[in-house]
Amino acid sequence: MNKRHFLRATALASLAIAGSTVFAQDNIFKIGLILPMTGQQATTGRQIEAAAKLYMAQNGDTVAGKKIQLIIKDDTSIPDVTKRMAQELIVNDKVNVLAGFGITPSALATAPLATQSKTPQVVMAAATSSITEASPYIVRTSFTLPQAAVAIADWAPKNGIKKVVTLVSDYGPGLDAEKFFKDRLTFNGGTIVDSLRVPMRNPDFAPFLQKVRDLKPDALFVFVPSGAGAAVMKQFLERGMDKAGIKLIGPGDITDDDQLNDMGDGALGVVTSHHYSAAHPSAVNKKFVEAFKKANNNLRPNFMAVGGYDGMRVIYEALKATKGQGGGDALLAAMKGQIFESPRGPIFIDAQTRDIVQNIYLRKVEKKDGQLYNVEFDVIKDVKDPGKAR
Ligand code: DHB
Repeated sequence: MNKRHFLRATALASLAIAGSTVFAQDNIFKIGLILPMTGQQATTGRQIEAAAKLYMAQNGDTVAGKKIQLIIKDDTSIPDVTKRMAQELIVNDKVNVLAGFGITPSALATAPLATQSKTPQVVMAAATSSITEASPYIVRTSFTLPQAAVAIADWAPKNGIKKVVTLVSDYGPGLDAEKFFKDRLTFNGGTIVDSLRVPMRNPDFAPFLQKVRDLKPDALFVFVPSGAGAAVMKQFLERGMDKAGIKLIGPGDITDDDQLNDMGDGALGVVTSHHYSAAHPSAVNKKFVEAFKKANNNLRPNFMAVGGYDGMRVIYEALKATKGQGGGDALLAAMKGQIFESPRGPIFIDAQTRDIVQNIYLRKVEKKDGQLYNVEFDVIKDVKDPGKAR
């Protein structure tokens, strides 16, 4: 081989290598999954990561000819960190979809970036009603607090609960829960005796619970984010509030499946309303719970896990529908209107609002096979977010 031939051959070879790298990059579909993996909301991150990985293990990591790459980032539930990570994922990693978002402030901090870059933002956890209005690129697979709170406000007065004190975490979802519970309970003839708010970070429930004890309502309605329920339950029982005849009610975040089994028998009988229970009696859910536990050292999936699992399905199906070609707008269009059976029951992504429509269940904590579960005893079907009517 003379020198000229040699140069041409090496040039061609390096072109071929460069070409194949470009080809490989083109064939990767990147999901930037931003979650609180450490800090106060770490259980949310752990549950959603496990669910996303389970979905991929069950459905493969190649969709419509694209290799799915999950890039997980820990935002420690600090919204400025979420925003910086979203920016890096969009600009440096060129992700096709952003997903996760453990708390409302993290979802809201990212919304303008999703809009500017036309990147679909799949909200798998955060649950303040207004989130979907913060960007036309947001699609939600979790739930909204108005969805959950209205159902328990209908149940309570029919079951001897007329006078209620509300106690909520003082930020988006808590304020939604407080408002929608109050309006509906009052409409149903009940009374809000007092409305208490605790700080979102490092709350001390003791002084608030003391006040509730003195007020002696029929029930205490509580919203705290996932992971904080066990602390509320412990102090509620330690103060003997149940023995004083005060019932504990609320959206199901308080009897979170991630913690419920460790709350002890004091939790028995607590009635909540929510979109997911690990005890939901469907074949799809039984299979999901079994596989999730098997892959995660017997960890029980909670409502965060199901939001992550269904979010992955929404992304996979959008990629299939766009035949692997999906740019942001095409993917978004393919996410709207999806309808399928989730482990929680039937769900629907409303094309107009990009929010989830789903069943809300009334559940009571009971013991099954020696373990505490939220056992569903009633259902309100196909509930749209009541917050959207404002
Ligand atoms: C939010 C966070 C939670 O952990 C939860 O259970 C409900 C709502 C939120 O920040 O939106």
